[in-house]
Amino acid sequence: MDVLFLSPGFPSEIPEFVRGLSTVGARVWGVGAEPVGTLPQTARRHLHAYLQVPSLLDELDTVARIRRWLGGRQMDRVEALTEYQVVLAARLREALGVSGMSVDQAETFRDKEKMKQVLDRAGIRTPRHMRATTVGEVRDAAERIGYPLIVKPIDGAGSAHTFRCNDGKELEVAIAGTRQVPHVSVEEFVDGEEFTFDTLTSKGQIQYHNIAWYRPRPLIARTNEWISPQVIALRDVTQPHLAGGVAMGQKVIDALGFQDGFTHMEWYRKANGEVVFGEIGARPPGARQVDQMNYACDFDSFVGWAEIVCAGRMTQPWQRTYNVATVFKRAHGQGRIVAIAGLAGLRRDFGQHIVWENLLPVGAQRRNWLQTLLSDGFLVLRHPELAKTVEMADRIGRELKLYAR
Ligand SMILES: Nc1ncnc2c1ncn2[C@@H]1O[C@H](COP(=O)(O)OP(=O)(O)OP(=O)(O)O)[C@@H](O)[C@H]1O
Ligand SMILES: [Mg+2]
Repeated sequence: MDVLFLSPGFPSEIPEFVRGLSTVGARVWGVGAEPVGTLPQTARRHLHAYLQVPSLLDELDTVARIRRWLGGRQMDRVEALTEYQVVLAARLREALGVSGMSVDQAETFRDKEKMKQVLDRAGIRTPRHMRATTVGEVRDAAERIGYPLIVKPIDGAGSAHTFRCNDGKELEVAIAGTRQVPHVSVEEFVDGEEFTFDTLTSKGQIQYHNIAWYRPRPLIARTNEWISPQVIALRDVTQPHLAGGVAMGQKVIDALGFQDGFTHMEWYRKANGEVVFGEIGARPPGARQVDQMNYACDFDSFVGWAEIVCAGRMTQPWQRTYNVATVFKRAHGQGRIVAIAGLAGLRRDFGQHIVWENLLPVGAQRRNWLQTLLSDGFLVLRHPELAKTVEMADRIGRELKLYAR
């Protein structure tokens, strides 16, 4: 089995998927913008071959270069696991005659208006929404939808250029902040809690699903630097208050005709119990959330994904035994990390539940918290009881401090 794989080195979990593929016996042909020498060890070890291209964003050029590189060799699969490459992967499938998700389908996953139109037709509850390309259309949509509302890019990621507006004055701030964005979605603001519904799907059938709870909601986490955002993969995914989200997730996969691989949906639950669709990606969640699945179930979902891609089924046994919380930290101050405080006490009190410490070391340059949820690093902990999990995660939020200068 020959798999063409886009961007095998970045972001940080992607090399694990390359490992998954080579573990199940596939030959992985990587294509990315980085020089081969800068790829992470794991990616290099498990790649069969690698082509460096000037930019994956230049789709036509990339397709032409890959064609030349392969010289007529037939690929069995084309895979991309990050939001910006989902459409390019589909283009490559069409250009190279490989089966899998089409460009049209991929665009439905990328374009949040097209996506919601398909889901509206399938009777799924989406926020009231309108596409706008001019300032006039944004104002017009705001009038029709009413406040509070959200203005966001039609193909955004990481909550970038996303604005909540409570009134006309705030709408003008959003208009100014999205001037560089050619198409926006204007949406009814849905107040509530926010969850994921992530799946490993084979031939349209969900083989495994994961639900994560965002604390707080991503937009709030992204607008307040002092917050240590938490993502908690839930052990009990059969709780009654999650049932509406699970049912919606199934319907969304059916309506979009998704076939094979990872999906990542976000949904909202209002205080009155109503469940509203947020968005869905034809890819796994980022920010090491796939690792959370592994910690929750003691299996290797990177290999599970590879099995689905190559053989159409997962063979590993798994059991959901833990809640898994990731707590992301942002340093106080700018520049380089100069001190980390509070870690010893946390280790002393519940170190046996901390499964991964991945903080930037002293001396490292701070990351841009607006560009990566990973921020200046994170701790992952797990526990069978949710209340205990939350209590420990909150203590990490309060007591662990990174300082930069
Ligand atoms: N209609 C809405 N009502 C309430 N909050 C919203 C709405 N749309 C977006 N948000 C908030 O903004 C965040 C980012 O929006 P969305 O998930 O659509 O975009 P994204 O940038 O693709 O996200 P991601 O960070 O998952 O890549 C959401 O997680 C949510 O907190
Ligand atoms: Mg989102």
